[in-house]
Amino acid sequence: MSATTAPGASPVAVNQQASAPFSPPAFLFGGDWSPEQWDPRTWREDIELMRRAKVNTVSLGIFSWSALEPAEGVFETDWLHEVIDLLTDAGIGFFLATPTASPPPWFTLSHPEAMPVTAQGVRLTHGSRDTYAVSAPAYREASRRIARMLAERFGQHPGLSGWHLHNEYGTLDHGPEAARAFRSWLRDRYGSLDELNRHWSTAFWSQGYGDWEEITPPRATQYLHNPAQLIDFRRFSSDEMRAAMVEQRDEIRAAGSSAPMTTNFMLPEWNHLEQWGWADELDVVALDHYLDTPGPDAEAHVAYGSDLARSWSDGPWVLMEQNAAGIALGDRTVVKSADRMIRHSLGYIARGSQSSLFFQWRASLGGAEQWHSALVPHTGGTSRRFEAVCELGTILERIAPAVRPPSEGPLVEAEAGILWHADGWWALETPHLPSDAITYSDEVRATHRSFWRAGIPVDFVRPGSDASRYRFLVVPCLYPLSDAQVTWLEQYVDNGGELLVTFLSGISDPSLRIAPDGYPGRLRTLLGVRVEELRPLPAGEEVALSTGAVVEEWTELVDTVDAEPIAQYTHGDLCGLPAITRVARGAGHAVYLSARLRQESRDAFLADTAQRLGILPTLPGAAVRGLEAVRRRSSGADHVFLLHHGTESVTVRGEGRDLISGRDTAQGLDIEPGGWAVLALSPAEVLEIVEG
Ligand code: GAL
Repeated sequence: MSATTAPGASPVAVNQQASAPFSPPAFLFGGDWSPEQWDPRTWREDIELMRRAKVNTVSLGIFSWSALEPAEGVFETDWLHEVIDLLTDAGIGFFLATPTASPPPWFTLSHPEAMPVTAQGVRLTHGSRDTYAVSAPAYREASRRIARMLAERFGQHPGLSGWHLHNEYGTLDHGPEAARAFRSWLRDRYGSLDELNRHWSTAFWSQGYGDWEEITPPRATQYLHNPAQLIDFRRFSSDEMRAAMVEQRDEIRAAGSSAPMTTNFMLPEWNHLEQWGWADELDVVALDHYLDTPGPDAEAHVAYGSDLARSWSDGPWVLMEQNAAGIALGDRTVVKSADRMIRHSLGYIARGSQSSLFFQWRASLGGAEQWHSALVPHTGGTSRRFEAVCELGTILERIAPAVRPPSEGPLVEAEAGILWHADGWWALETPHLPSDAITYSDEVRATHRSFWRAGIPVDFVRPGSDASRYRFLVVPCLYPLSDAQVTWLEQYVDNGGELLVTFLSGISDPSLRIAPDGYPGRLRTLLGVRVEELRPLPAGEEVALSTGAVVEEWTELVDTVDAEPIAQYTHGDLCGLPAITRVARGAGHAVYLSARLRQESRDAFLADTAQRLGILPTLPGAAVRGLEAVRRRSSGADHVFLLHHGTESVTVRGEGRDLISGRDTAQGLDIEPGGWAVLALSPAEVLEIVEG
């Protein structure tokens, strides 16, 4: 990611050298602010509250299109100038969004063809948000126009921390505009219809295409879709949205603004982007992270989102949104306690976030999200909730020394990696796989959870990237693999890595055509195995392995070719046959896990493997006590973030100081359940737990 220099220097302006990591002078604190929903008296009250809480950054304009351009080509920005002046006087910086996620009603009426069409053929209209056909020329033109206008009027502002392009790209369109663009994308990818027919296996069910015009997006059809068409449509949609984002970026640059560019990716369940390629186009990755469980797994999920964002960004990243006080569960929203909100904010920062930004600053009184939580709740600034927000502001100010990324080396040092690619996600969403119980998201998250539970730092790894710093690389359920990716994995092992491949990886080529002569065809040689049959288990059935590990959902009939079994199945038809195998190759080893280990068994297996490889937790003995320890490097010092999710007080000792409480840690520092500390240590300093 290449970074650029923001002009001027407000208290929070981001001053960067070209190619430097995203490096604001303080952690960015604040959230989405929607002054267009409020009167000017409330703006002033908001600024006062922001100052009280030490907010230094807001995101403006995300859904302001109708306020900024009330009629086609008519721009009204006086209100935004006024708002920005108020912010600037208060020393508060801002991300400025292009409002293109929510075209206004006039746009729909004058450009009905630019509204998206669902797979069922329903053309949507305004009334909500995210309603646009990304391939429609009118939408693209209107988006470029408003981006350009904003850049011309605000692009040089010294308070501009960065550009927030669009909001959570992800509307899929199946209409005529998408069909046209999809065909063009396919022509570029395959060159000829013969190639496309071959890659899409169109001999099956009489789907041979004789003309490009015959090809459509995967619209509602009688029975199962062609999986190759489905995955290509997902790739196309990601590329098409990326092209729209790049156009906005270029328009803004052409208008002379050099502020950093980002767009907010979304987790956990909404995955319409191929994140590595998108990150290449941005100065910094931003993530919106919403928890999906109120239970203890929420803490692991914070770490998961953060490690993904840091990896995609290849360094510091921006937490653009988190829920201030709620965890939305679909049918209800449960409260996120104030101390948990603070712990989570520190958790994101520990793993590389340069910010603690929220959706949203002030809770709306009307509109679709009037019950969404905010830093300023409906009850206003006189509330316990707001006191906690002020406390977070003070904490972020105290930990400011941690904000500067190290001059070299990673922000968080990890020797273990997990391979990630959106293709794996999209492949396992195609229909009629051997089991719908296996999802890419669950498998990757379960793998990450095991490392988190062991207290071992982990990165996500881009296929084809330099993986030499990882002694251990796990490939969970990456179903399609290209030739280049297979060669890259082979080289990783040849060069001394320990590769762990799980079931449902390397099954097919990128067009989801199964590699023949035994599974996992693309990796059979590397793994030294030949799987004859995939054997999903009925729901609820469990199988034990010879190591005592428990398996659910998935087993396989595995023959070892060159590999040695390291665990066997112990019941039924597979009794005595290999479940986990390992083979030496070059300077490294390749392990195959043919079964889906239950979480606790997966935890034990991954922790044992890491230990065998000499990969240590950040603070030995911490995770088992519920104490999360993350070492974030900065120039000159390391900062160990201690977040206590457990139930008993833990004492740590090491030569250093807690930046939050100011306490010295040489004689021992007690961390109470639910508590936190950020210790500044010299890079060589070892921290230990004092056994009590
Ligand atoms: C995000 C979105 C915000 C808001 C939030 C609610 O995905 O970017 O605008 O809708 O969800 O949780």
